[in-house]
Order: sequence, then C-alpha cells, then structure tokens
Amino acid sequence: MIIAIDGPAGAGKSTISRLLADRFGWPYLDTGAMYRTVTLLALEQGIHPDAGPELGQLARNLEIGFQPGPGGVPRVFAGCREVTDAIRSQEVSANVSEVSAHARVREAMVAQQRAIAAAGDVVMDGRDIGTVVCPGADVKIFLTASNGERARRRRLELEGKGAQISQEQMEREIAARDDYDSSREVAPLKAAADAVIVDTTEMNIDKVVDMVSAIIREKRDG
Ligand code: DC
Repeated sequence: MIIAIDGPAGAGKSTISRLLADRFGWPYLDTGAMYRTVTLLALEQGIHPDAGPELGQLARNLEIGFQPGPGGVPRVFAGCREVTDAIRSQEVSANVSEVSAHARVREAMVAQQRAIAAAGDVVMDGRDIGTVVCPGADVKIFLTASNGERARRRRLELEGKGAQISQEQMEREIAARDDYDSSREVAPLKAAADAVIVDTTEMNIDKVVDMVSAIIREKRDG
C-alpha cells in the first residue's frame, strides 16, 4: 500500500510517518530530506536558490539514498556522503522552500520518489504526495496543527539539538515557509480532495498514530 502523509512544517509528519512505517513493517520515505539535500549541495556549490536550470541539473545528477538509522530516523546520503545532520541546518531550512519551488528540481525528485513508490509498500511524507507524486495513493492524510503549536514543536526539536530560537522567531519562520510552499505555482502544499484532514494541535503522537493506523487497516482489510 502507498500511504501519503502531507502537511505543513511541524505538523508531525515525519514522526507519525516513521511510527506508522514501523508498525506496518513498511519503508518510510522522507521527501523533504530529498529537497533539503539538493539545497545543501546548491549552497555548498554556490548555486543561487533562484537559478532554476542549474538547480535542475544538480537535482538530476544527484543520487539520494536512505539507510535505517538510530531511533528509526533514516540516515540520508548524497552519493556516498552522509548528510543526515547537515540537511537540518538553519541555512538549509531558510533556503529549501525557494529551491524546491523550481519545476526542474521537482521533476527530478518526483521521478526518484515515484520509482521508490513503485517498488511496493511505502509511507511517504511531504507536501505534494497525495496531489502529484502518488495521486492514486491508497491512503491520503493531511496533517495539520495551529501555527503556535507547530512552532513550539520545531523549537523544542531544535533545542534538543542545542540550538536556541524564540517562539516568535520560529512562528515567523514557519509562517514564511508555509506561505512560500502553499503559493508556489508547481505542486503547492495543499490537501488532496480525497485526503483525510487530521488536526494534531490537541492530539498526542500515539493518538494520531492509532487513528491513522485504523484508517490504513480499514482500507487494507475492507
Ligand atoms: O518536511 P521538510 O520541512 O523537511 O521539507 C523541507 C521543504 O521541502 C519544505 O519547506 C517544502 C519542500 N518539500 C516539498 O516542496 N515537497 C515535498 N514533497 C517535501 C518537501
């Protein structure tokens, strides 16, 4: 089965997707990590985030790989180089929306994502999985939460890694990224017409995983 988990930053997509993948014994594909990897390499190579053709070429030539990592968090590779931590930097986060808005970058990433989906069962998270990458997905979930709550979660995540950021600044950053992701021309962030919308503001992780698992089981066994 193909499970599409879309939604804005900080809605809990990666945590929920990882736990679902673990529960059903399926692979998990973090498509945001792929756009982050393109962004990291572009920054390192001095390619400007508005240089669509150069970014497209970089994305087409890039082989992104995943391997199981500690705590179920996948390790991410650009060729043979591990980029798991480097793609989570503030600099990558600040530029990834602009890089991922280019049609040529998306074409290259979507082709890789569809090839992975074609291999069998998978839980994929992103912004356009249910609308563009796998419109025929068996289950489509659109996870969301209030801006304040999403910023709070991201802030705690960063604090856990030793970085300090105020709630206000995090809210501004998240709102800016959501605006950019939702208003771009190619594959904007939006819920598919047939997605189940789950607002996680007041839900803990276990409750969300149980709820989505029930939807998956119903579809699988129904
Ligand atoms: O999920 P994330 O925060 O790691 O995603 C990083 C960025 O990548 C996000 O701001 C938008 C982009 N993205 C996308 O455009 N399409 C996807 N399927 C996944 C992520």
